[in-house]
Amino acid sequence: MTERRQFRAIKGTRDILPPDSARWNWFEHTAREVFESYNFGEIRLPIFEQTDLFARSVGTDTDIVSKEMFTFPASQGFEKSAPNGEEQQPVELVSLRPEATASVARAYIEHNMQALPGNVKLYYLGPMFRRERPQKGRYRQFYQIGAEVLGQSDAPAIDAEVLEMLLVFFKRVGLTRTTLYVNSIGDKNCRPQYVEVLREALQKVKDKLGPDSQRRIETNPLRVLDSKVPDEQPVIEKLPRITNHLCDDCRAHFSRLKDELTLRGIQFEENWRLVRGLDYYTRTTFEVIAEGLGSQNAVCGGGRYDGLVELLGGPPAKGIGFAIGTDRSILSIEESGSAPKPDGLSVYVAWMGIASYPAAVRITRKLRDTGLTVELPPEEMKFKKSLGLADKLGARYALILGEDEVASHTYTLKRLADADQKKLTEADLLEYLESERRR
Ligand code: HAM
Repeated sequence: MTERRQFRAIKGTRDILPPDSARWNWFEHTAREVFESYNFGEIRLPIFEQTDLFARSVGTDTDIVSKEMFTFPASQGFEKSAPNGEEQQPVELVSLRPEATASVARAYIEHNMQALPGNVKLYYLGPMFRRERPQKGRYRQFYQIGAEVLGQSDAPAIDAEVLEMLLVFFKRVGLTRTTLYVNSIGDKNCRPQYVEVLREALQKVKDKLGPDSQRRIETNPLRVLDSKVPDEQPVIEKLPRITNHLCDDCRAHFSRLKDELTLRGIQFEENWRLVRGLDYYTRTTFEVIAEGLGSQNAVCGGGRYDGLVELLGGPPAKGIGFAIGTDRSILSIEESGSAPKPDGLSVYVAWMGIASYPAAVRITRKLRDTGLTVELPPEEMKFKKSLGLADKLGARYALILGEDEVASHTYTLKRLADADQKKLTEADLLEYLESERRR
C-alpha cells in the first residue's frame, strides 16, 4: 500500500487564499494605476536567471548572494552530456531571482533600450526568492512591486519623482504610518576613500564588535553600519559618517535631492547608516519603514545604481529604483484596519423545481454580464437549505426563482440583511441591481 502522506507548503512559502487574494489584487492594481500615471510601463521578467547575473550585480559578499539564493544547474536532465572523449562543459548555474533590478539591467542591455527616447521607466511585480529564516513578514517566496528608471540622466528630480510616486501609491492604499529615510552613500570617487576611513576606525574598536561585524571590517565595512546588535550601537554612533566624506558632486546631488523632496512636500529623515544590503548602489539610498510590523518593518527599499548597466557589459547608464515588499505592506494595511472590504457575492440564485432551472441559468449569465458576482447552485436544493447557503456565502441578495416566477415572468429579489422582498420583472431587476451597485 502506498504511504499516506500529507503535503504542506514548503517552509517560508504560503498560499494566498480568497478573500485575502482580492486585497492583493487591489494592491497590485492600484500600483499599476499609479505607476502608469507616471508613465511607467510594465516589464515581465523571467523568474530565474544566470547565477552570475546576481553575483555581479548584487555582489558576491552580500548575504543574498553568499547564502540566500536557490541555485541549480541549468542543463541537468534535459541536455545531452558531452560525447565520449570531448571535454565536459562547465555546468551553467541558474538561480531563482532574489530581486529584479539585475534582471531589468540585463533586459535594458539585451533589448538595446539605450536607443529608446528619454528615460526608460519600467515597473514589475511578482515573486522573489531568498533562503532567509522565515518569520513574521519574512518569507522565502515573497512578492515585490518594483519600479526602475534607466537612462543617461542622473538628475535628482528623477530620484524625487520616483519617491513621490512611491508615496502617492502608499497613500492611495492607506499605508501612511510610515517614515521615509534617505541617505547618500557616495560614488566610485568618494566612497572607496570613506570605506578606508571607516575600516581604520573599525579596526580601532574591533574588540567591541561581535563576530559578524568583525568579519565585515575586511569584507564589507559599510555593512557594519546596518548592524542591529544592541551592544554595537554606541560604538557605531561614534564612527565617521559618509555625509562628511562625500565628494563635491555627490554632496551637491544629495542636497538637490533634498530640495526636490521639499518642493514636492515629501517628508523624510536623513539616516547616514542607511547603506542597504546590495552592492550596486551609488549616491541616493532610501527605505520606507512602517509602524507596527516588528523587526521586519521595511516595506520598501531602493536607490540609485549608476554604473550597474556598464558593470554587466552594457553602455554607460544611470539608474534608480525601488522595490516594495507586498507581503509586509499588506500585513501593515491589514493591521491598521484601513484595508477595503472586498465586494464579495452580490446575488445568489435560489432556483427551485427543475422547470425553473433553464431560466436560472439564463438570468445568471445575464447578471454576470453586467459585472455582478453571482452564484448559481449546481444542484437542486430545498428552499430553506438554499437560502441558508446564500446567507453563509455572504450574498447580498437571493434571487428566488420557482415555478410561479417562471410562469409569471417575474423574479423575487430578497435582500438578505433585512429580508426585504420585491417582485420584479427582468428589466426592473437589472435596473434595480445596477442602481444598488452605484450606491
Ligand atoms: P530589498 O531591500 O532587498 O531591495 O527588498 C525590497 C523590499 O522587499 C524590502 O524592503 C522588503 O519589504 C521586501 N523583502 C525583502 N526580503 C523579503 C523577505 N524575505 N520576505 C518578505 N519581504 C521581503 C531590493 O530588492 C532592490 N532590488 C530594490 C531596488 C530596486 N533598488 C533599486 N531598484
